[in-house]
Amino acid sequence: MSVRVALLGCGTVGTEVVRLLEDQAADLAARVGAPVELAGVAVRRANRHAGVRPELLTTDAAALVARDDVDVVVEVVGGIEPARSLLLQAIKSGKSVVTANKALLAEDGATLAEAADAAGVDLYYEASVAGAIPLLRPLRESLAGDRITRVAGIVNGTTNFVLDAMTQSGAGYAEALEEATRLGYAEADPTADVDGYDAASKAAILATIAFHTRVTAADVHCEGIRRVTAADIAAAEGLGCTIKLLAICERLDGGGTESVSARVYPAMIPRPHPLAAVGGAFNAVFVEADAAGQLMFYGQGAGGAPTASAVLGDLVAVARNRVGGGRGPRETAYASLPVRPIGDVTTRYHVSLDVTDRAGVLSAVAGEFARRGVSIAAVRQTGAGDGGAGARLVVVTHGAPDSALAATVDALAGLDVVHGVEGVLRVEGLGHRVATLGDS
Ligand SMILES: NC(=O)c1ccc[n+]([C@@H]2O[C@H](COP(=O)([O-])OP(=O)(O)OC[C@H]3O[C@@H](n4cnc5c(N)ncnc54)[C@H](OP(=O)(O)O)[C@@H]3O)[C@@H](O)[C@H]2O)c1
Repeated sequence: MSVRVALLGCGTVGTEVVRLLEDQAADLAARVGAPVELAGVAVRRANRHAGVRPELLTTDAAALVARDDVDVVVEVVGGIEPARSLLLQAIKSGKSVVTANKALLAEDGATLAEAADAAGVDLYYEASVAGAIPLLRPLRESLAGDRITRVAGIVNGTTNFVLDAMTQSGAGYAEALEEATRLGYAEADPTADVDGYDAASKAAILATIAFHTRVTAADVHCEGIRRVTAADIAAAEGLGCTIKLLAICERLDGGGTESVSARVYPAMIPRPHPLAAVGGAFNAVFVEADAAGQLMFYGQGAGGAPTASAVLGDLVAVARNRVGGGRGPRETAYASLPVRPIGDVTTRYHVSLDVTDRAGVLSAVAGEFARRGVSIAAVRQTGAGDGGAGARLVVVTHGAPDSALAATVDALAGLDVVHGVEGVLRVEGLGHRVATLGDS
């Protein structure tokens, strides 16, 4: 008996899956208890895959999935369709599936999970979040007896590379993105990365698993890094912080009712926090749980071989279940906690304003914060703004509902004495103390 695999897609990840399956065939057979064999490889353009044995290649993915001699389907095509239909077809015909498709899982993971439950097959997707880093299985299995309170991390290598380059060299956003593109860390169209959509998909997947609650990409508040400036980076340094694009999934307790928040935005984090030291295109995820305390997962979040490592790990797990009988853990969404909008979430803001340099300005500015119940932690005048005619005022707040903070910034922009709101960034302590202005 062997476990026969249909591979859908043979691009960056799929090519490495084929290589690992062939190079490690003997070891995989020994670990699974049966040979793991490729039954076929579906691609879009069959003439572009010289590295794959021609008899395996097909452009008819649906026909490959339907074959009786296929036990497991591995999907590394990406996108919503035809990936969803192909996976559902596989599941309904009793085949277990492995996928790296974060976009599909974040949009419609529930449909796949329910179909897998109904059919009694496995659905594994470790590679969909943070590439090579073992993260979903530790959350779902190793921490299954604990209560996870927060999962916060850097889950997009492109944006971490760009922000790190800006921090290291003082470069502006456009210059740092250009370097990332030149070195192959950013795609020709970097939208999904720099606007935060890729991280938002991963946040949805993480929140779903961590809180046993279905969270989709549409539930995730998402802001990218396009508006982060060299001045923001310098301001963060002044506060003893560094700026990272964070995916934050949190369990919120309010008035005895539990809810969850999932959000993605660039934020200042204290430099002593372990996430602040994550450089280049690396990923890292910080997990907090009641009994386990703090855990950190770190490694390569993308790339053909690292991602294929996670795919192969899933494939071995699924193949073992086929050989030994039984299924791996199912997705559980029993908690069904409400997902709170960003306006309800308590955050802190760092606001830089160009203001008129005269008496009474500070009280006008402070008045707008006070009117909305936002308490100020520190204020500093950092020098002349506006070509010397005004001053630069920096305000750091205490925690307040995001809606109150956003309304305050809108009101500040309308004040006569405010020439411009130069920068607004959230400050996330993530359990660490944030320095106040002047003591970093
Ligand atoms: N790349 C990474 O670092 C990474 C990391 C984590 C997760 N992922 C996820 O892994 C998946 C694959 O990513 P990738 O970077 O390997 O993508 P990719 O390089 O663009 O490869 C996609 C593959 O799918 C094939 N394909 C496209 N449409 C198809 C169709 N209708 N039927 C059959 N095959 C089709 C393409 O065929 P042709 O080659 O013939 O055009 C290509 O081989 C995505 O879900 C992605 O989000 C990727």
